[in-house]
Amino acid sequence: MPGLTIGDTIPNLEVESTNGKINLHHFCTDSWTILFSHPGDFTPVCTTELGEMAKYCSEFYQRGVKLLGLSCDNLESHNEWIKDIEAYTPDAKVNYPIISDPNREIIKQLNMVDPDEKDSTGNLPSRALHIVGPDKKIKLSFLYPSTTGRNMDEVLRVIESLQKTSKFKVATPANWKPGKKVVISPDVTNEQAKEMFPQGFVTKDLPSKKEYLRFVKV
Ligand code: BEZ
Repeated sequence: MPGLTIGDTIPNLEVESTNGKINLHHFCTDSWTILFSHPGDFTPVCTTELGEMAKYCSEFYQRGVKLLGLSCDNLESHNEWIKDIEAYTPDAKVNYPIISDPNREIIKQLNMVDPDEKDSTGNLPSRALHIVGPDKKIKLSFLYPSTTGRNMDEVLRVIESLQKTSKFKVATPANWKPGKKVVISPDVTNEQAKEMFPQGFVTKDLPSKKEYLRFVKV
């Protein structure tokens, strides 16, 4: 996707949210942040997504991750909509801030615009989701159309992967789940791996005899 993407520092914007004014750099410093946008208030898929995010928020907070939603409607509308979200998803409390962007300027700067979704005042946000690291850089982005709701288990899974791979020189293989073995990064030699992973690692014997698929539990 053109514009803001993996590796970029998020812009230092001052935004209005349901929890007051937020400076994005201040908000994102020294913690992980999930910044997620929604096409609009009082829409069905968005209502389910914000409720699920609220249900998962303790899982995210336990991992040092803050949530920051965005929908382009105004704050009055957001506050009315939160009542619906909480009514639809029992036990969900929308305590995380939701940014308002009635002029559609923030979504442009955050690369969250959906070219196919428009209302009378301009483009709507896509279902974009940026995971921002403690260094304020984007570590991962999802970009879904308005018709496809996101899976919060997947959001939690990728957070676990990002946090694990930021601590160790490892990567998480296909369909990895927390608790399962990870693979050692290809730029780590076997000698280095023995020092880095004293618990030991298992090298898969492959036809090429190249020892690049090495599993370890960290
Ligand atoms: C929704 O959230 O349900 C939605 C929003 C915009 C277009 C289609 C669906």
